[in-house]
Amino acid sequence: MLPLANYDMWEPRLDEYARRFLNGKEWADYQAMAAHERRCQLQRLLDLPVAQFSWVNEVVFRTLWGSVLASTLPGSNPSVLEIASGAEDCIPQAMARTHPHGQYAAANMNKQLTAGLLRNTKELSLPIRVIEDDAANMSSHLGTESVDLVAFHHGVNDVLQAIRCDQEGIDTVDSDWMRTLPRMIELLRADVDQGTFEDKVKGPFLGLLTTLRDLLRPGGTMVMLHFPFQMDLDWGYPPDLYEGIIPMTRRWAEEIEGLTVIDEPGYPDQWWLFLRKIR
Ligand SMILES: C[S@@+](CC[C@H](N)C(=O)[O-])C[C@H]1O[C@@H](n2cnc3c(N)ncnc32)[C@H](O)[C@@H]1O
Repeated sequence: MLPLANYDMWEPRLDEYARRFLNGKEWADYQAMAAHERRCQLQRLLDLPVAQFSWVNEVVFRTLWGSVLASTLPGSNPSVLEIASGAEDCIPQAMARTHPHGQYAAANMNKQLTAGLLRNTKELSLPIRVIEDDAANMSSHLGTESVDLVAFHHGVNDVLQAIRCDQEGIDTVDSDWMRTLPRMIELLRADVDQGTFEDKVKGPFLGLLTTLRDLLRPGGTMVMLHFPFQMDLDWGYPPDLYEGIIPMTRRWAEEIEGLTVIDEPGYPDQWWLFLRKIR
């Protein structure tokens, strides 16, 4: 697979990033791992589908989003909207360190995972707002042109899966997401086999992105990161679809008026998509 980032550039700075993006207890746990093991984990994380979860992952994803936040957000009090966060907290963790006076909100529908996000972020001084509704309805909750950054951390696939579940009457709000995942994967496999995936999801997905575009301030940015998880592949996720999510989204998003694809050197375009709202 194309690496997520360059190991030789990250390795010498991993401890410095860990110091910046982990709290005292997390840093102690990180240091308790043998240095050699930390480096092996870094190499595997950057070069292979993600198969292991440890403080090294947290350091990498918080640092990556920290650098996106630093380069895209204006001023010290920006507004960030994350889509389909689940319980994953790397964006608010990064933002608590780069923009502690900013405003963070997540649009997240699944109730169990929202509870997990609130648990994972309870010690942060950054206020966390979770809007428990479909991202497609965000204009009922947030003002037009009120957001500086819309962020998807490994969330594009989840939005597409939720669209298909909704179409098939499968509950993703009051259910256990991981228990539903095998049915989601089955649906996607059938769609891919029958060549119907794009017809089914592209319209609703572009509708959702258009709503999010309207929430962005002129000059604001939409950023998507996606990378493979080994477990999803082992469970039968169609590999070309899974690994091609960002190139497919880029192709589709080019059809949305008022958003332009921007090239961000240093962020591989297999895994990252940057869209800017035209001023
Ligand atoms: C597996 S979880 C989280 C994914 C997470 N970003 C990660 O790091 O893997 C998927 C979440 O996406 C949410 N989701 C999917 N489509 C959504 C939508 N249209 N609006 C809001 N939340 C959505 C689900 O409710 C669920 O909580």
